[in-house]
Amino acid sequence: MARINSFAELEKLRQEIKGRRDPNKTCITLCSGTACYASASESVNEALERELDRQGLKEEIGLRRTGCHGFCEQGPLVVIYPEETCYTKVKPEDAAEIVQGVKEKKVIERLLYSDPVTGEKIVHESEIPFYKNQHRLVFGPNRWIDPKSIEDYLYIDGYSALAKALSQMTPDQVLEEIKKANLRGRGGGGFPAGKKWEETKNAPGEPKYVVVNCDEGDPGAYMDRSLMEGNPHSVIEGLIIGAYAIGSHKGFVYVRQEYPLAVENLNLALKQAEEYGLLGGNILGSGFDFSIKVHRGAGAFVSGESSALMIAMEGKAGEPRMKYIHMSQRGYKEKPSCLNNVETWATVPFIINKGSDWFNSIGTEGSKGTKIFSLVGKVNNTGLVEVPMGMTLRQIIYDIGGGIPKGRKFKGVQTGGPSGGIIPEQYLDTPIDFDELTKIGSMMGSGGMIVMDEDTCMVDMARYFVDFCCEESCGKCIPCREGLRVLSGILTHICEGEGKEEELQTLERVAEVMKDASLCALGATAANPVLTTLKYFRDEYEAHIKDKRCPAKVCKNLINYYIDPEKCGACMICLRNCPTGAVQGGKNLVHWIEQDKCIKCGICYQVCPERFSAVEKLSGEPVPAPVPGREVVRKKE
Ligand SMILES: Cc1cc2nc3c(=O)[nH]c(=O)nc-3n(C[C@H](O)[C@H](O)[C@H](O)COP(=O)(O)O)c2cc1C
Ligand code: FES
Repeated sequence: MARINSFAELEKLRQEIKGRRDPNKTCITLCSGTACYASASESVNEALERELDRQGLKEEIGLRRTGCHGFCEQGPLVVIYPEETCYTKVKPEDAAEIVQGVKEKKVIERLLYSDPVTGEKIVHESEIPFYKNQHRLVFGPNRWIDPKSIEDYLYIDGYSALAKALSQMTPDQVLEEIKKANLRGRGGGGFPAGKKWEETKNAPGEPKYVVVNCDEGDPGAYMDRSLMEGNPHSVIEGLIIGAYAIGSHKGFVYVRQEYPLAVENLNLALKQAEEYGLLGGNILGSGFDFSIKVHRGAGAFVSGESSALMIAMEGKAGEPRMKYIHMSQRGYKEKPSCLNNVETWATVPFIINKGSDWFNSIGTEGSKGTKIFSLVGKVNNTGLVEVPMGMTLRQIIYDIGGGIPKGRKFKGVQTGGPSGGIIPEQYLDTPIDFDELTKIGSMMGSGGMIVMDEDTCMVDMARYFVDFCCEESCGKCIPCREGLRVLSGILTHICEGEGKEEELQTLERVAEVMKDASLCALGATAANPVLTTLKYFRDEYEAHIKDKRCPAKVCKNLINYYIDPEKCGACMICLRNCPTGAVQGGKNLVHWIEQDKCIKCGICYQVCPERFSAVEKLSGEPVPAPVPGREVVRKKE
C-alpha cells in the first residue's frame, strides 16, 4: 500500500474500499477474541473456510474474524450479516450446517441463544437481552471489523476524526471540544481528560508525551484488553488526536505482557498506520509528526498507577512516587506526560466526529458518555457490557445480566476492583456515575463489576481483595505494606473463627491511617472492601466473631459437612470420592461423616447427586449424632 499524503487521498481510499464492498453481501463473522479463541474459535474458522471452499461459496459469502463481542461465556460466537443471525457455542463440526444454512437462508435452531430465564430461542444478536439494553458505542465496532485489517477500520469511517482534527481544527479547538464534552478518564478516578490534556500542554518542558494505560490489573476486568485486541486503531486514532491537541510528537502504549493478542494486534495496527501515512512524519500531509512505541509491562497491578507506570517505562522497577507534582507536569523522563486509559483514548474519535453536544446528551449531569464494564461473578449472563452512564446497577445486573443464577438471592456487587467497595441490595437503584458510586463508598474504577449471591461470605471476600493488594503492593511505604498485612491477619482470624470484637475497631483505625498516609492510591483505597463490608454487612462479621458462624457457610473453620440420613440414597458416590475416608456407611447403609477425619474439602457436597441432595453444610449449630448401620429406605421412583 502506498502512503497516503493528503486528506483527499484518505477520503478517496475510503470511497474505493466502500465501493469494493457490498453491504448486503452475506458475511459470516466469527469472534476471535481471547475467550472465544480459548474455546477453539480458530478451529471453527478453519472448518468454516474449508466448508465455504467445499461448497464453492468462497466468492459469494464472506468470512471475517472479529474482536470480542462481549458475550464471551457463549463463545465461540458466530454472527451472520446482514440478517444478524447469532449462533452461540459453535463447534468446528457445526461449520457444514452453518454454511448450508446460509446458502438456503435457513436458521439453525439448535445453535441459537436460549434465554436462561424464559427458555426462548433468540435469532438476532440485538434481540438477546444481554445486548438489547446496552449502548455499544466504543465497543460496538469490535463485532464488525477484523482487528488485523486497517481497511475494515477505514470502511467504518476510521481515521475520519483524525482527518477532521488535522484539517479543520486547531490544536486548541480539539482541546476545547474534549473539555466541553466533559470526558472523564475511564481508568479509575474519572479525572477530566480535557483538564489533564490542558495541564500537559501548558506545562513547561519539551518534549511532551502521551501515553495509553493498558495495564489492567484489576481481578475480573478485561475490557481494555478486549478493546485493544478488537479495535486497536480506535485507540491509536484517539492518541494521535490527543497528541495533536497537546503538542506531543511521541506516544507510548503501556500494555501488559500477559495480553499477547492485544500486543500482536496493536503492533500490526501500528505498522499498518505507519505504512498508510497515518503515523510518522507529516501525517496526511498536515505537517504534524507523531510516532508511537509499545512498552510491554511485566503485569504488576501497581504498575498501572500513573507514576509507577512512567518509572517502569524508563526501565526501572514500577513503583509509585509521591505525586505532589502531577505526571502532566513531570512524568516520563521528568517531562510533561499525559496518561489516559485505553477506553478514554478510544472515546476521543467519537467526540471529534459527532461533537461535544452529542456526547453530553448521553449520561448524567456529572458523568457523560458510556462505560464498558466486565460483568462477572454470580450473574446469569457474564461478559463485557457497555452502558450509558446513569443506568442503574439493577438494570445492569438484571436486565442485561439476566439476574442471579439458580434463583439465588443477590447479596452485593463489587465495583472498582480491589480499590472499590461492595455495594449491598439497598443501593441497587444507584445510577452508574463516578460521583454516585463514590458517595456510597465504592468507585467506578476501570469497570470491573463482580456480582455476589447469598453464598458469598463478605468477610472472606474482603480478605480476598486485601490479600490481592497485599501481594501487589510494592512495599515501598509502611502504611500500605504493613497496614495490608494487619488487615489480612485480622480478616483471616475472623474467617477462622478466632476473631475478637475489638479487632473490628482495629480494622477501621488501620484503614483510616492507610487512606491518609499511603504513598499512592493502591494503599489509600485498599481498605475500601473492608470498610464497605463493615458498613453494610457488619452482622456477618459479628456472626463470625460472636456466634462462630459463617452465614454464607464458606469459612472452612466455621462449617461442618453433614449427611441428612432421611435424604441419603446410599449411592456410595461421596464415600468413594472422599479423599480422607471420612465418609462411612456402605451399600444400602445410610452414609455419615466422621467429623475428626473430615478436612472440609467439600467434595461430598459437590458429588452428591441432585436427586438426593443429602449433603449439607452446617455452621454455628451442632452436628447431629450419626446412626451407624442404619439402612436406607428406598423411596419408590
Ligand atoms: C494501583 C493502581 C493501579 C492502576 N491501574 C490502572 C490500569 O490498569 N489502567 C488504567 O487505565 N488506570 C489505572 N490506574 C489509574 C492510573 O493511575 C491513572 O489514573 C489512569 O491511567 C489515568 O487515565 P484516565 O484518566 O483516562 O482514567 C491505576 C491506579 C492505581 C492506584
Ligand atoms: S472473546 Fe468472543 S465474545 Fe468475547
